Amino acid sequence: MKVDVLLGLQWGDEGKGKVVDVLTPRYDAVARFQGGPNAGHTLEFEGKKYVLRSIPSGVFREGQVNIIGNGVVLDPVLFREEAEALEKSGVDLRGNLRISKKVHLIAPTHRLLDAANEKAKGGKKIGTTGKGIGPTYTDKISRNGIRLGDIYHNFDEKYSALRERHLEQLRQLGAEPEGLPELEKKWMDAIEYLRGFEIIDSEFEIDKLLKEGKSVLCEGAQGTLLDIDFGSYPFVTSSNTICAGACSGLGVAPGKIGEVYGIFKAYCTRVGSGPFPTELFDETGKTIRDLGHEYGAVTGRERRCGWIDLVALRYAIMINGVTQLIMMKSDVLDGFDEIKACVAYRINGEETRQFPYSIEEDIEPVYVTLPGWKTDMTRFTSEDQFPKAFKDYISFLEKELDTPITIVSIGPDRDQTIIRQNHK
Ligand code: GDP
Ligand code: IMO
Ligand code: MG
Repeated sequence: MKVDVLLGLQWGDEGKGKVVDVLTPRYDAVARFQGGPNAGHTLEFEGKKYVLRSIPSGVFREGQVNIIGNGVVLDPVLFREEAEALEKSGVDLRGNLRISKKVHLIAPTHRLLDAANEKAKGGKKIGTTGKGIGPTYTDKISRNGIRLGDIYHNFDEKYSALRERHLEQLRQLGAEPEGLPELEKKWMDAIEYLRGFEIIDSEFEIDKLLKEGKSVLCEGAQGTLLDIDFGSYPFVTSSNTICAGACSGLGVAPGKIGEVYGIFKAYCTRVGSGPFPTELFDETGKTIRDLGHEYGAVTGRERRCGWIDLVALRYAIMINGVTQLIMMKSDVLDGFDEIKACVAYRINGEETRQFPYSIEEDIEPVYVTLPGWKTDMTRFTSEDQFPKAFKDYISFLEKELDTPITIVSIGPDRDQTIIRQNHK
């Protein structure tokens, strides 16, 4: 069997959690391959809402295997909070969650370093989630990190060495390790809690599943435009959010990748700093934020809003090898008279359809204006009910992006999802 991958094509928060939950019944296992608690994946069903940060979005479906792969960075304290809340609501986590020994651990000092690094950047802040993501991946790459499997191998010694190095780094940044003893106590307790879960060599687990003819869905975090290599560097996260990240973040060979689901909103948002060519600073931007409830699931920060950017989407489709598109939050535009889509950038008077090296330059988006559909679609159950203007919008996007849109989401609930019949 193949491994399918679902990932965000914009700057995150496209609705990955919702769709993974919808697609999970088609799979035997769901696996996270990168990122950490900087992610906030929202799921809604049966009148309840859940936000997942490190735990895969397949956990609500009974009998599913859920895997946290080696490419993820895990904060034991936040993991414990998340897991305890899920267990309280009746999810059998101990039975169906497996964690790679090779995940890197986010220590309390990583979070302190994240804050200190941001402060030191002054006006050029990344606007990180403050979860210690950058410093933890930095330690991984510089070969100083600690992994979950280390709890079985001289953990205290490894932790002390890391702690000393971090304290020195904090001193150099002029930051005080405030409240560290209490943070460490909570962290150590959370590590003990983690011992109660299945900590495994997840690459072998996935190989075994595939050999048994089982199927795996990989759940991306963040989005392609936040990818460390291909995103809007340096305003990015510290991992490979793209499809290739699923190979390195789970130990899956490239040839095993099957479908690549690329997920995008019918408009565009970004949280944190960095360039955003189609950002709207007017009433329309505010209307999108209000109607789409565009506030961060993790930090509660206002998300910046703008029109859909097809230049960036084409790039994301290319980098990821997307085979199917999933359009989210189309209902947010239900009441609009007109909808705009950026089809090209004008840079120094020249028009281009190619995503440039830097989008920090002066970019003027070239827009096509399409008629709105002016129909409340939130209770629709089939694509046959779509008004003509909406069907035309879908066809326009499919042509521009040269990829089929197979699923359309018309509301936050699990049930507000239209699987397009001709693409089943
Ligand atoms: P993720 O990080 O990609 O999983 O996305 P988030 O959960 O951070 O943000 C997506 C938000 O949009 C959440 O609040 C979802 O409940 C909500 N959502 C998902 N799909 C839809 C949709 O089709 N319409 C509307 N109105 N909201 C949606
Ligand atoms: P999900 O999985 C949106 C952004 C931060 C910041 C940059 C770097 O819910 O889509 P980091 O803490 O990773 O070092 O921050 O990346 N960012 C996200 N934006 N959705 C996310 O995750 C994000 N995770 C990180 O706002 O700009
Ligand atoms: Mg999110």
